[in-house]
Amino acid sequence: MKLTAASYHNLTSYERMKMGDHSLDWTNRPNVFKSYPKASKISLPGIREFDEVKKPLFPLFEPVVHSESKDFKMTVDDLAKILVLTQTITAKSQGGATEFFFRSAASAGALYPTEIYAVSAGIAELKDGIYHYSISDHSLEIIREGRFLSIEPGEACRAVFIFTAIFFRSSWKYRDRAYRYNLMDTGHVIENQLLALKAMGLSHKLSYDFDDKQVNRLLGLDENLEAALAFIDIPGKDLQLIAPALKTINPLAPSFKEASLVARIQKQYEMIAQIHSSAEQIRNPSVEIRMMDHTGLNLKAIKGTPWINERIPAAGYPEAVFLRRSKRDFADEPVDHSTIAGLIASLRAENTPCICTGLLIGSANGCSPGFYLVDQTSGKPFMASDGYFNEKMADICLHQLWLAKASLHFIILSNLALLDEAFGARGYRYALMSAGRMGQRIYLAATSLGLGCCGIGAFYDHEAARLLGLDDDTRLLYLLAAGKIRK
Ligand SMILES: Cc1cc2nc3c(=O)[nH]c(=O)nc-3n(C[C@H](O)[C@H](O)[C@H](O)COP(=O)(O)O)c2cc1C
Repeated sequence: MKLTAASYHNLTSYERMKMGDHSLDWTNRPNVFKSYPKASKISLPGIREFDEVKKPLFPLFEPVVHSESKDFKMTVDDLAKILVLTQTITAKSQGGATEFFFRSAASAGALYPTEIYAVSAGIAELKDGIYHYSISDHSLEIIREGRFLSIEPGEACRAVFIFTAIFFRSSWKYRDRAYRYNLMDTGHVIENQLLALKAMGLSHKLSYDFDDKQVNRLLGLDENLEAALAFIDIPGKDLQLIAPALKTINPLAPSFKEASLVARIQKQYEMIAQIHSSAEQIRNPSVEIRMMDHTGLNLKAIKGTPWINERIPAAGYPEAVFLRRSKRDFADEPVDHSTIAGLIASLRAENTPCICTGLLIGSANGCSPGFYLVDQTSGKPFMASDGYFNEKMADICLHQLWLAKASLHFIILSNLALLDEAFGARGYRYALMSAGRMGQRIYLAATSLGLGCCGIGAFYDHEAARLLGLDDDTRLLYLLAAGKIRK
């Protein structure tokens, strides 16, 4: 059966009183570390200092115009640095006999579905090839040797990072709804990498478009269990991922495919398989889309004080990346106008036409409570409706009542019918990964400003849309609470 963005999202919506029972089988908890026991490994150099990338965080949120860097030359040290800045272990906790590791990019249920592969050509001290990044021991596992990237005349090297998701890592807990988290979690990791590349001054391009089957085969994935979702190309001048030889590439030994197995019983959820395969086709929209104009909301310009971000952030880049954690002990205290303006500045993203972002302001000094949308190009907020929504929203988020004490709820929306019409089902991938990217930005901006933040993917979908006054096709994809936390 073919699914669309709208049908998958509606079929996996939560409804009050219809949640059913689902107990977690802890004996079948998926391994969060993928490994290739039969592959050769290369230890990466340990990164002890980040001086070269230490910068104020907020300018990194600005869209960049890439320079044409012909003399671009990457070393294995640069590669290691990019990988650490993209995703690294930042904390550990003990639950009985089990150790839980937390990472720099947030993940629903800390299940970490995203894996990172690197394709290299011409990187100093590294043979050309395809590698899996083993985060647990900061090493590369060799998947294939050889040149799989075309290099333009006059260029020294090229690197492509491919992001995949192992579906069951999230569906162990969230079942058919988990595809949302596969995509949003991956968006968080992608945003970390985009910020790293900006901080390192490396031109790059993010794309969600490629031939799914060919890339999955190239990486040797078991595509019933794991799939490529996005790639980032450095220096990103053309979007042709792999040399034409890809079409005839040999399959890898079965042990590579088996590495996609991360649990004793790895159930495949029907709806996830369907929405993923329904989106194989790539369709370019004939018109430019500004999602903000398609939510059914009646937006009003804001009179009075301009929203100026004059606050000096407490933590810069990359400190904020390493310090970021989900915080839930909100203090029920108002935040300042300038803090809100600072957070809003993080929403000015490039290449996110499939979503629009906004916020519910609860208690704040100098701003009226209400629901606002933010123009992603100009960063300007518009009022959608006034009033206090945060307590009702906390209840709609499966009664996570601590959310009511957060002065701000950032929200990410999309008109799913429009996505289907413009991009086909693949639009769902674009929207949810973009939502994850925005989520990581909000987490980092909040961390930098000394606030707490927590992403929320669990809510009664229809009730949330109704509370916000959205039209029938527009849905809340993701919510992030932010505010002062208890000392
Ligand atoms: C897409 C997404 C959805 C999430 N949903 C919830 C949620 O509904 N409730 C909650 O308390 N935390 C939620 N979280 C936060 C995760 O539980 C948290 O990121 C994870 O436990 C790792 O901890 P850390 O963020 O402190 O590193 C969500 C995170 C993401 C990325």
